[in-house]
Amino acid sequence: MHAGWNLVAIVSLFYGNALGFFWPFTAFAAPSSVAAVPSAAPKRVAIIGAGAGGSSAAYYLRQFAEQSDIDIDITVYERASYIGGRSTTVNAYNDARFPVELGGSIFVATNEILKNFTLEHGLEPQDSGTEYSDVLGIWNGESFVHTMKDSGWQWWDNTKLLWKYGMAPIKTVRLMKVVVGKFKQLYTAPFFPFRSLSDRAEDLDLLPATGVTGEQYLEKNGITGPFTTDIIQASTRVNYGQNLGVIHGLETMVCMAIEGAMSVRGGNWQIFDGMLKSSNATINLNTTVDAISKVNGKYAVQSTLLGASASTTKHYDTVILAAPFQYSGINVEEGVLRKTPDKIPYVTLHVTLFASNRTFSPKFFGLGPDADVPTTIITTLPPGEVPARPEDGVGKAGFFSMSTLRSVINPVTLQTENLYKVFSPAPVTPEFLAKVFDAEIPSNLNNISASDSGVISWYYPHVWHSYPYEYPRVTFEDSEIARGFYYTSGMDSFISTMETNALMGMNVARLVMDDFLEFLPQSGTEAGGQVPIQVERKENEL
Ligand SMILES: Cc1cc2nc3c(=O)[nH]c(=O)nc-3n(C[C@H](O)[C@H](O)[C@H](O)COP(=O)(O)OP(=O)(O)OC[C@H]3O[C@@H](n4cnc5c(N)ncnc54)[C@H](O)[C@@H]3O)c2cc1C
Ligand SMILES: *[C@@H]1O[C@H](CO)[C@@H](O)[C@H](O)[C@H]1NC(C)=O
Ligand SMILES: *[C@@H]1O[C@H](CO)[C@@H](O)[C@H](O)[C@H]1NC(C)=O
Ligand SMILES: *[C@@H]1O[C@H](CO)[C@@H](O)[C@H](O)[C@H]1NC(C)=O
Ligand SMILES: *[C@@H]1O[C@H](CO)[C@@H](O)[C@H](O)[C@H]1NC(C)=O
Ligand SMILES: *[C@@H]1O[C@H](CO)[C@@H](O)[C@H](O)[C@H]1NC(C)=O
Repeated sequence: MHAGWNLVAIVSLFYGNALGFFWPFTAFAAPSSVAAVPSAAPKRVAIIGAGAGGSSAAYYLRQFAEQSDIDIDITVYERASYIGGRSTTVNAYNDARFPVELGGSIFVATNEILKNFTLEHGLEPQDSGTEYSDVLGIWNGESFVHTMKDSGWQWWDNTKLLWKYGMAPIKTVRLMKVVVGKFKQLYTAPFFPFRSLSDRAEDLDLLPATGVTGEQYLEKNGITGPFTTDIIQASTRVNYGQNLGVIHGLETMVCMAIEGAMSVRGGNWQIFDGMLKSSNATINLNTTVDAISKVNGKYAVQSTLLGASASTTKHYDTVILAAPFQYSGINVEEGVLRKTPDKIPYVTLHVTLFASNRTFSPKFFGLGPDADVPTTIITTLPPGEVPARPEDGVGKAGFFSMSTLRSVINPVTLQTENLYKVFSPAPVTPEFLAKVFDAEIPSNLNNISASDSGVISWYYPHVWHSYPYEYPRVTFEDSEIARGFYYTSGMDSFISTMETNALMGMNVARLVMDDFLEFLPQSGTEAGGQVPIQVERKENEL
């Protein structure tokens, strides 16, 4: 593998020197080096999607604009009624005292965008995604292959693990740290910002990890044996609903990066809500963008407010699409995009939340009546089981994870109950729950109420297109898919997390600002005109 640099030239140009000639290329203008430019009308930016990517784009765009003294006007379109996208909470028993994460629930210490915002804006971090760390068990549908007491997410400080699996855990952590170290370079110059994620993945020597399955990547790095199937695969399954023979090596390593796991008390969506508030963007909830076309060099964005009979069209200098193109339903006028992002398979994930005063039945897991059943169960495949298709990957266990989240007070009965979360590829059935709790379960779980005398007192099923099947690949959708039209969701095939999508938001914000700076009319030649900026020029972009 080559050492990592694919940059054929790093040239210093003088600000204002025929910049348009080299466009597009990756340019980073240090904020202080840019002179104030007398602006005409504010630049108008439309952001589609108020998830991690769109919120972060708005937040950083405002910051970069202020640093460069550029006047911008940001409008955010979100078809849902809430901010956060795949990061959102619902309230157990419909009671606001008991919020529970329905989507993205954990981030880690190295996720500096989320962590910094949390700490800098008075949000309250909680130590890990699960407040309830009692016993974690790894179940393969036949038996528990491993259990850990009170382990939370600190699997590595565990002597039992080393005794059982030898060097594999240590080798895995070492490899993970190298990979994360390479990835973290995307945050700073000269790797930040980037118009092509494919090129940057190559620059950073990450393609050897994304280009092969987790299984192949681990093997290549001398990590084999039961540790990979018992522990690493259980982790890729709970995080991404896929096995090591499907998910690529980079995403596999991300699953192992669990140091400093945390979440925001009350819901991670508050980070994205806070980012949008700081951005001073106009936020249109319940508003679906239906179509985008190009009119007189501007983007015409047509949107419809939920329930409205007519749509509205507004014009923008720049568009940022911060949602998977294939699920956006946006009709982009023929010829506008250099390339339409490919449709790729996403995992269909059923997330089922419920409350009950029962605990998991030992019988279900083939344990004796007095056995302690793990409170969080993640799963793997039994030896020899090779699912025919990725969609059958759940295998004999039938579910990816089943967690006891925390105890809650039923607001009607005032009894203490537990909050549970199940991840599965198919809907949870009353028959399944009857076996798990060894109890009678009503055949219709959709009309449960907290005052019922049944075993389930609150029930909330949801289906997500949660993340892509992370098949090995060495190309990723560009950050910019037409001049002035940016796209964040190429990141989903590289690493699909709240942080990485927020990084992509920050990245496109920088690109947008760099483009505004390049194309603005020159301020006088003297004042600030001769400030060098560093430009990385790439062969294939000329
Ligand atoms: C169950 C689950 C568990 C997860 N667990 C974790 C975890 O523990 N940690 C972690 O870091 N990540 C986790 N993830 C992944 C993480 O949540 C996502 O990668 C991240 O939130 C995606 O952010 P995004 O902004 O790119 O996309 P999204 O959050 O999907 O945001 C896109 C937004 O665009 C809106 N939109 C789409 N089309 C239109 C349109 N035409 N007009 C207007 N609006 C539109 C959508 O409504 C949506 O709100 C999990 C995901 C799921 C589903
Ligand atoms: C969005 O629509 C929902 C459902 O109709 C409604 O309850 C909510 O108030 C709306 N939100 C906004 C901001 O209009
Ligand atoms: C987060 O904070 C650290 C410490 O202050 C800083 O070094 C880093 O640049 C910040 N990261 C981002 C993305 O703002
Ligand atoms: C916020 O944006 C509005 C226009 O959308 C503008 O009138 C106002 O001055 C902005 N406020 C700040 C503090 O930037
Ligand atoms: C829920 O629906 C079932 C039939 O589908 C019915 O028998 C039951 O009484 C209902 N329960 C409540 C609490 O409404
Ligand atoms: C669970 O709740 C039901 C209904 O309120 C009650 O009858 C039962 O005794 C409770 N069981 C336990 C173990 O608390």
